[in-house]
Amino acid sequence: LDNGLALKPTMGWLHWERFTCNTDCDTDPTNCISERLYMQMADVMVKEGWKEAGYEYVCIDDCWPSHSRDAQGRLQADPNRFPGGIKKLADYIHSKGLKLGIYADVGKNTCAGYPGSLGYYETDAQTFADWDVDLLKFDGCFLDRSLIAEGYMSMSKALNKTGKSILYSCEWPLYEWPIKQPNYTAIREYCNHWRNFQDVFDSWSSIKSILEWTASHQKIIVPAAGPGGWNDPDMLVIGNFGLSHDQQQSQMALWAIMAAPLLMSNDLRDICPRSKELLQNRMIIAINQDPLGRQGLRTVMDCDVWERPLFGNRLAIAIMYKQELGGPRRFPISAVPGWKICAPQCNVTQILPQYKELGVQSHQKELVLSVNPTGTTLLTVTPLSGDLRKQHW
Ligand code: GLA
Repeated sequence: LDNGLALKPTMGWLHWERFTCNTDCDTDPTNCISERLYMQMADVMVKEGWKEAGYEYVCIDDCWPSHSRDAQGRLQADPNRFPGGIKKLADYIHSKGLKLGIYADVGKNTCAGYPGSLGYYETDAQTFADWDVDLLKFDGCFLDRSLIAEGYMSMSKALNKTGKSILYSCEWPLYEWPIKQPNYTAIREYCNHWRNFQDVFDSWSSIKSILEWTASHQKIIVPAAGPGGWNDPDMLVIGNFGLSHDQQQSQMALWAIMAAPLLMSNDLRDICPRSKELLQNRMIIAINQDPLGRQGLRTVMDCDVWERPLFGNRLAIAIMYKQELGGPRRFPISAVPGWKICAPQCNVTQILPQYKELGVQSHQKELVLSVNPTGTTLLTVTPLSGDLRKQHW
């Protein structure tokens, strides 16, 4: 979407995977969906280096509104959980130098049963603009699938009409796939990013299924990605309960290769130092935010080699190892198709599992890498020859 936003994949925090629809502020005030949660997250983001690393948007997901609209037909925040209202919350988030995201739904209800925007697109877009909200995640529950495209386009136009730039995060293709192959040219024209596949869960099987879906549809979805519009494989669940450290590294590496929005869903108030260090890893973030803005893809089908072209004829390579038996696998780099940019010589940096300068390598001399089970070895390759070689895709 050409609204000047999301020129690089969006970075921030989104409540859903970690905090879901917890509205019980009486017995669980620390974790319930309330203004406190976003204010505390914003405070930590500033204090603990998240903002400095590039994480900018603090995003509300489902379950924030009151079950009824106000007398003018406008959405309103639940008064007990958001006593200050959304505008005040936005002001607070902005005072921290961060941005606020909100959630609504293209259909009659949100997925959790709160009021949807069907019949109220212009009203709701205007309400969000009046509140000074910076991002809208627009879900697709409770609408006939044949009306999905039209609904998402109408909301995009309604947002545009407010005159305020609001980043527009869609789930259009996810809800359209069951009836037809979505039109990604149109989706890119109307949305800043779009979910294609099921919700992420805090598990390795969930991460694997998202990667598998992405690789098997890459011919269709990868060409659609670029500055202003990105495929969204859903939230980062790093720092929660379900992934081992190697699996967390795999999610971080592959989300960088996929040029995915980096929306963490975790508890930044209480996160283990290793997960924090991984999420704030400047070299991985730089791959994700690379100025060339091209999404990477899986280049070797049967052993999970992924590659992403970077600005300046550089290349990021991620080698994942899926076998859940035994120890690290030895992997010869000559099996990576893009390795040919290393002729005659290149400079190689290993970023994961540990940072290591591998120095000048040549096409002739075999470099053998080590990849942990369910982990990922992530490299950047910088060619040393003057002539710009054409890449293989
Ligand atoms: C859908 C979306 C999720 C989340 C929930 C909220 O499942 O895909 O990301 O927003 O709804 O109810």
